[in-house]
Amino acid sequence: MKVKIHRLFEYLLETVEAQPEAIVGFSLSESPKLGAFLEELDPELSLDWNNRDFRGLPELRDHVLRQAGLDGVLTPADVLITAGAAEANYLAVMQRLEPGDRIVVESPGWPQAEVLAKAIGAEIVRVNRREEDGWRMPLDRMREAVTPATKMIFVTNPNNPTGDVMDEATLRALVQIADGVGAWLLVDEVYAGLEWDGPRAPSVAGMYARGITTGSVSKALGLQGLRTGWLICPDPELVMDAVILRENSSEIMNIMGEVIAEVALRPERLAPAMEKARAEGQANLAQMNDWVAAQDGLSWVLPRAGLIGLGKLPNGLDSDAFATRLLEDPYRTFLLPGSAYHQPQHIRLGVGGGAGVNLGKGLSRVAQALKDWKDGAWS
Ligand SMILES: Cc1ncc(COP(=O)(O)O)c(C=O)c1O
Repeated sequence: MKVKIHRLFEYLLETVEAQPEAIVGFSLSESPKLGAFLEELDPELSLDWNNRDFRGLPELRDHVLRQAGLDGVLTPADVLITAGAAEANYLAVMQRLEPGDRIVVESPGWPQAEVLAKAIGAEIVRVNRREEDGWRMPLDRMREAVTPATKMIFVTNPNNPTGDVMDEATLRALVQIADGVGAWLLVDEVYAGLEWDGPRAPSVAGMYARGITTGSVSKALGLQGLRTGWLICPDPELVMDAVILRENSSEIMNIMGEVIAEVALRPERLAPAMEKARAEGQANLAQMNDWVAAQDGLSWVLPRAGLIGLGKLPNGLDSDAFATRLLEDPYRTFLLPGSAYHQPQHIRLGVGGGAGVNLGKGLSRVAQALKDWKDGAWS
């Protein structure tokens, strides 16, 4: 089993030394500084592991259940603290998918499950979300794709990269489809809490015996570098299998990630942090929407949640060529090409990252690049 590179990571590797002057398409809120947490940290804290539970600090797991609306529904034993949602996804996919199994994924969507499934030798079936349908989850196509050979359905809610949100009714329909064949339903909720035109969707771990919810403090709270996330599942065997695989990869959580995330998720800290993230995200997205409307040939479906969406380029302009040109003088601006999501005519637009990404400058550079590209050539 060899894990092969995906276009999304390949592009990040290719461009990491480009030193852009602006970034358009950042997917997380501005990251807080360590100083914001120092007062709550105990200098006597041992930098050994937490010495209490292999699933993670109990009070942190309580917070995780509360923020997901699952307190009283599930217990802390159903929660495993992980190195980000990425590790949670990894542990679940690796421990439940075998060669020849079918996994159904959405497209566009987060590529991680597909990358792992390919390495395992599973059969990957993509269910396409379509722009003309507002990137909504196509339940009819999902129903067709899920067969008795299907071991897992992997989706994001809110969706990366389109910002679509599945509501409770849609999730219930998905549960029904998964339950019909006994498949695991993994819903990656890493962007939860940033819904703009409806409530936060319920977490699937509270809706289905084979429902797996993954999430983290990376996005709305901007705490990506803590590498702290979670897996929630009512199936004790799945949680234990994840603990076992983790023991044989990174063994334990990093204690600083656990302790700082515990502080960040305390209700009295979480509420104002989310309020700030929501206010900034919403205002910035409104500006982005106006900017998109003002560009000749560029369009998008306004994200219903999260800080990113897909912008459609003018006909004939390829996303790889555009993103690569944009990194060069005089534009020096980074964005992700849609090729990273099997959408070669789109670019990922986003408003995260705070002041450090120089979004305004980036947008005017993208606008200039769009003007400079005419009739299939750069002027
Ligand atoms: C949908 C999705 N899942 C998981 C991750 C990984 O997040 P984390 O930092 O929690 O590992 C990302 C990061 O971009 C993501 O967009």
